[in-house]
Amino acid sequence: MTSAPGRPHSIDETRERLLAQDYVADRRLATAVFLALSLERPLFLEGEPGTGKTEVAKALSRALSAELIRLQCHEGLDVNLAAYEWNYARQILEIRLGEAAHESREQIAAGLFSERFLIARPLLRALLPQPVRPVLLIDELDRADEPFEAYLLEVLAEFQITIPELTTIRAQFAPIVIITSNRTREIHDAVKRRCIYHWVDYPDAARELEIIRRRVPHAQESLARQIVAFVRELRGLDLYKLPGLSETIEWGRALLALDRTALDPQTIDDTLGVLLKYQDDLARVRGSEAARLLDSIGHATAAAERD
Ligand SMILES: Nc1ncnc2c1ncn2[C@@H]1O[C@H](COP(=O)(O)OP(=O)(O)O)[C@@H](O)[C@H]1O
Ligand SMILES: [Mg+2]
Repeated sequence: MTSAPGRPHSIDETRERLLAQDYVADRRLATAVFLALSLERPLFLEGEPGTGKTEVAKALSRALSAELIRLQCHEGLDVNLAAYEWNYARQILEIRLGEAAHESREQIAAGLFSERFLIARPLLRALLPQPVRPVLLIDELDRADEPFEAYLLEVLAEFQITIPELTTIRAQFAPIVIITSNRTREIHDAVKRRCIYHWVDYPDAARELEIIRRRVPHAQESLARQIVAFVRELRGLDLYKLPGLSETIEWGRALLALDRTALDPQTIDDTLGVLLKYQDDLARVRGSEAARLLDSIGHATAAAERD
């Protein structure tokens, strides 16, 4: 199709290509991505916020030198915002101009619903011809209403969009589709059935450390290890909202901004708002609990460094 890098030929290559974009994938995720590309099926990524779902689409589009077309879902999302819309203002202007030129009603009407007046939104754009198959990211589908899911299902089934006033637009090549959900509600089975499904979990310690190394490259190795260990301890608590990868990375950056090279109870207390975003969680951890966690990771990281 083009000179852009083609799709990866193995799971390992998928993993390496994502890694080249600073995305550290475990084998299962790399497998899901590889299969979605090979079988030309949408990839459905579900998981807690901040576990790296959106970033998969971004990294993959870069790895394939493909355009990233993003549809951010929200309540009230409809066809006009997601697929296409008529440019009413320009249509009205066209009518006025036609009237001024004494054109007949039929003459004016004939041109009003042509491509000239069509505004392509993300879903339609992803179906239009492109030099490289784009990556269509349908982000946080759980935030959209259920009728939109039904519409999306139609689009995904045929990769076509019918514009009643104009025509049916069908993709020559199916876009690469990535759907994410933070699971604030269940997505309908019919949507999932079309997709390769992958649950994105919090990373294990080794992967999180690798992510910190890549995303906060100036952090000292010993500090990076402490950060990872501490965040993992936090995730073991019964908190309202556990810290995701975004929080781990941000904390690393915060500690660097404060010129810290190691964790201490005061620093943890002062910066805990980077990791925890609910007052109840903060109140629970700040102080003695934070000190206890620091103490327990102190032993763990010291042991790891001896090994
Ligand atoms: N596997 C990973 N490798 C490198 N960085 C990651 C990885 N997963 C997540 N990140 C980083 O963590 C942050 C949160 O990821 P994001 O994709 O926004 O999470 P989600 O969409 O699941 O809420 C981003 O800054 C992203 O760059
Ligand atoms: Mg996201």
